[in-house]
Amino acid sequence: MAIHWLKSRFNAEVVTVTVNVGQEDDFSEIENRAYKLGVLKHYTIDARDDFANGPIASAIMLNALYEDKYPLGTALARPLIAEKVIEVARREGCDAIAHGSTSKGNDQVRFEEAIKAMAPDLTVIAPARIWGMDRKTEVEYARRNNIPIPEVHSRFSIDDNLWTRSIEGPELDDSMVEPPEDAFKWTINPSKVNESLKLEIEFKNGVPVAVNGEKMKLSELILALNRLVGSHGYGRVDHVENRVVGFKSREVYEAPAALTLIEAHRDLEKLIYTPIEYRFKRLMDQTWTDLIYQGLWHEPLRIELEEAAKAMNKWVTGVVKVTVRGGLMITGRSSPYASYSKEIADYVKGWYPSDEEARGFISMWTLHSLTAYRVRWGSGVS
Ligand code: ARG
Ligand code: SIN
Repeated sequence: MAIHWLKSRFNAEVVTVTVNVGQEDDFSEIENRAYKLGVLKHYTIDARDDFANGPIASAIMLNALYEDKYPLGTALARPLIAEKVIEVARREGCDAIAHGSTSKGNDQVRFEEAIKAMAPDLTVIAPARIWGMDRKTEVEYARRNNIPIPEVHSRFSIDDNLWTRSIEGPELDDSMVEPPEDAFKWTINPSKVNESLKLEIEFKNGVPVAVNGEKMKLSELILALNRLVGSHGYGRVDHVENRVVGFKSREVYEAPAALTLIEAHRDLEKLIYTPIEYRFKRLMDQTWTDLIYQGLWHEPLRIELEEAAKAMNKWVTGVVKVTVRGGLMITGRSSPYASYSKEIADYVKGWYPSDEEARGFISMWTLHSLTAYRVRWGSGVS
């Protein structure tokens, strides 16, 4: 529809681009429709490995869960899609880039930030923001202009890729309404699971490299975990999220691989890092995640945090044991860099500080707090 509109409004020659970031679409059907609508040229770009090895690998190293829940799938893919579209625009000598976002979404911010950063000379056109038609008017426009509308007009607005399946729709706008079962495609209902799935996930330098001993490239490992974990009833998210554009929205997601990998990765970090590193890393994680969600991919701190995260993830190598059955439990972990020592922890045969050492430690450890406490509320001796 935007193609027709761009051609009639600007008399434009239109080149269309579909970037494959793992969404379940029929790419040849999209191409056929584009040519039927009279585009000059259509590109389909396979960016699945770029997506996995770039943004997704960072999201794992930085445990990216926006507002503790959303693994960022949609947000992570937008700058990469923009980059691929810009490459085509340069090759084709275009003077403008159009995208399909509305004025109420986060995606417009993410696309346009990336275009402003990488191709500030190109004009951005957001047809859906300009024409201001609602769904019904859009359908009428399409009918009037003989534009074929895709058959399955789902009740939900889906944005899916390797990392996350984002589900929005009028039915879900009531924050008290339970998402209907047919909103979900990657996960079965947790109540239907009657078998446990046991996984051993191997990480190298903060990135997963094998599942149950089988080495896989990251994009394949994610697909395998989406299938395995989703079919054991884990991976759904339902929350109210703070959008960039000033309002809260109810969002539903499926992300079995993402939720599993982040949980496992964070567990391994805890085994390895000092408490000081671990606590500082949580702040890094949250700051990075907010930048990605909020469409600030080109904020320098995003890049600097990734460099710091890489340095810290140099030690995050090891194996995490996971059991999935409608929920997820971490049931074991090991690493050559674990700073956990069974010899020290052991209560039977292990190390014990002397009574004197323990008394000295407790006096000095509590001194700051108890000094202030006494000043404010007395000594406790009556
Ligand atoms: N709220 C999520 C985000 O901002 C998901 C957006 C999903 N987009 C969609 N067209 N369904 O990243
Ligand atoms: C859009 O309207 O562009 C999609 C929704 C979003 O960005 O969150």
